[in-house]
Amino acid sequence: MANSSLYSFLFLSCLVLALATKAQSQAKPPIVNGLSWSFYESSCPSVESIVTKHLKSVFKKDPGQAPGLLRIFFHDCFVQGCDASILLDAIPPSNQSERDSRSNVGIRPEAIKTIDDIRALVHKKCGRVVSCADIVALAGRDAVVLTGGPSFPVPLGRRDSLTLSFAETGNLPSPFNNTAGTISTFAAQKGQKFDVTDVVALSGAHTFGLSHCSSFSDRLSGKSPAPIDQTLLKNLKTTCPSSNSPNTANLDIRTPNKFDNKYYINLMNRQGVFTSDQDLFSVAQTKKLVQSFALDEKLFFDKFANAMIKMSQLRVLTGKQGEIRAKCNVRNSGKKSELASVVEEVFEVAQQF
Ligand code: HEM
Ligand SMILES: *[C@@H]1O[C@H](CO)[C@@H](O)[C@H](O)[C@H]1NC(C)=O
Ligand SMILES: *[C@@H]1O[C@H](CO)[C@@H](O)[C@H](O)[C@H]1NC(C)=O
Repeated sequence: MANSSLYSFLFLSCLVLALATKAQSQAKPPIVNGLSWSFYESSCPSVESIVTKHLKSVFKKDPGQAPGLLRIFFHDCFVQGCDASILLDAIPPSNQSERDSRSNVGIRPEAIKTIDDIRALVHKKCGRVVSCADIVALAGRDAVVLTGGPSFPVPLGRRDSLTLSFAETGNLPSPFNNTAGTISTFAAQKGQKFDVTDVVALSGAHTFGLSHCSSFSDRLSGKSPAPIDQTLLKNLKTTCPSSNSPNTANLDIRTPNKFDNKYYINLMNRQGVFTSDQDLFSVAQTKKLVQSFALDEKLFFDKFANAMIKMSQLRVLTGKQGEIRAKCNVRNSGKKSELASVVEEVFEVAQQF
């Protein structure tokens, strides 16, 4: 008798555990574009650990690469989808890469290089099976996890684009915009529906990293409609003797290198660097979200992870679309000289089999 009630207790515990696990996996937003939670399970099972291991050592030497990589992921996804188009050098006859756009000011070249370094490590281990676009996504996720933020799964199976789009860099949000403008910039993205919660949560990425003076010139000149703390303003003016100064300021004055919810505390104290940040605390609907994320870091982390999984699926190429680039900055069908080094590398990989 005692035994059977013990068994039914164990059975019920297992059931509860199973249901809880199921509820957790249901909390993930749906996969909309043919990606998979287990894409490299057989072709490159170690890809995620290779990315994480490499980034740990990179961030130890240069913590600024973490925000650099997260921003690259965002700017990849909003321009032509998450397809590594941001990594391509200009394709002749055009002389413009996406990185030459004003919207991409401050994209860190060393973080672009880190992605190709990881690509080389992964291709050495598994052959040319993992896309640059997936490496961008995994590096963006790890940039969050390794600096104190939430861990979340990234669906994989993206392919790399054959083209880039300078024109579409105009889809990126502007730091000079107000909340209504920022919300419509996100809502205008094709392929995902970003709501107001997504916008406020994703803006929380400004919990670390840097900005150049030109990106907050409206704050310096007093043209911003959003309020600003006078001490912050004084410090920004000291950093930026003019708005085209090449200097940089921290986006999060409290914990500049940590992924946490202090960004929202900053906004409540008029210490947001961009107009697009600070204005979130001036509009009733977004103000409530800022307050709740400032009070409850776990809530922020959950909403951020959810929105990132959505972002990671913007207009992805899958199946036979695009290609798996042998070098992240150039198409496989690129110039002859590039092709030569590609052949060399494939040969090197083939030798391991
Ligand atoms: C909400 C609209 C957004 C606007 C207007 C915006 C704008 C900007 C601007 C102007 C910079 C500074 C560039 C510079 O001067 O060097 C910046 C930096 C940054 N942004 Fe955003 N951003 C937005 C959303 C996001 C999102 C969704 C993410 C990622 C999920 C993100 C991640 C970052 C990071 C990490 C940095 C620091 C980069 C570094 O230190 O290298 N931003 N953003
Ligand atoms: C591309 O070429 C045009 C015309 O020669 C020039 O004005 C422009 O600055 C160049 N852009 C880049 C990014 O080199
Ligand atoms: C603000 O965003 C809206 C909607 O995307 C856009 O039409 C407008 O040009 C933006 N304004 C600025 C200053 O970038």
